[in-house]
Amino acid sequence: MNDLELLVQSATEAFVAAATPADLENAKARFLGKSGSLTELLKGMGALSVEDKKTRGAAINQAKQQVEAALTARRQALADDELALQLRAESLDVSLPGRRRGEGGLHPVSLTLERMEAIFGSMGFAVADGPEIETDWFNFTALNTPEDHPARSMHDTFYVEGGNLLRTHTSPMQVRYAVQHVKQHAEAVGRGERIPEIRVIAPGRTYRVDSDATHSPMFHQCEGLWIGEAVSFTDLKAVFADFFRNFFETDDLDIRFRPSFFPFTEPSAEVDIAFASGPLKGRWLEVGGSGQVHPNVVRNFGLDPEKYIGFAFGLGPDRLTMLRYGVNDLRLFYEGDLRFLSQFQ
Ligand code: PHE
Repeated sequence: MNDLELLVQSATEAFVAAATPADLENAKARFLGKSGSLTELLKGMGALSVEDKKTRGAAINQAKQQVEAALTARRQALADDELALQLRAESLDVSLPGRRRGEGGLHPVSLTLERMEAIFGSMGFAVADGPEIETDWFNFTALNTPEDHPARSMHDTFYVEGGNLLRTHTSPMQVRYAVQHVKQHAEAVGRGERIPEIRVIAPGRTYRVDSDATHSPMFHQCEGLWIGEAVSFTDLKAVFADFFRNFFETDDLDIRFRPSFFPFTEPSAEVDIAFASGPLKGRWLEVGGSGQVHPNVVRNFGLDPEKYIGFAFGLGPDRLTMLRYGVNDLRLFYEGDLRFLSQFQ
């Protein structure tokens, strides 16, 4: 083997031994680089005779072509390996079942609120929304509960700056909504004309300093208000009958009014329901408060209590949710445990 054949052979071996493109480029430099062995051979030709230059030159060129061919072959091989590796790593098994993104869902209490809005909506009730941070006026005073009224002690709550508080019930929405409604019909009121009935529910969050299996410091209420010229307790009972039968999807259900006291209604009644069948059969369950709106409150609406009369009620959506799904600890709703919450989807 002459020197050129040896050189081609060692170049080829070096290229094959190169495991990475970087190794290969290093090997290439050793043979074809500026001071590589082939380059050095070409440089050394200056000393040869013209005749020898021809034959030696041709031989070196041929060796160079062989080295370059070996280099190209190895480059291709390395690129092929890399591609094969990548294909294997990124291979896609199209027969695998798809991976699902976890779907969100509504909280059980939100489901109840939506249900309440739909059912009351079908009875002609508008839905109103109001602030959770409330003034003393709307939460108490306008509702016939002045500063030193003993009923305030049952509504201990969280106070924030400026004397405002986290509302203890949704009843302030009675006043907010009615005042707005009266303002909208101010001209008719001014002319002594009758204005359209007020028929609204106001669901939302409420707050009290209470915490046990059936009380949470944050809970929900759904206020209801129906004011007109001759809206009576009979209408209230009909509304409740319709609502509860729809809500619980059963006609086997009794409703009773139990005399009670609220400063803003007179007379007042606690509302109980009892199922005629099922696990709670025959047990009276308290689901809300209600009553005929007190004349002082009607006056705070901006209306004449001699002309306008009606009822208000406050239902407990958390309680209704517990009854509907058979949940016995209210706290489960607010722990954020997905194992519990996902059961309602
Ligand atoms: N706001 C009362 C409560 O939280 C419930 C209620 C509302 C009673 C409307 C009568 C009329 O206890």
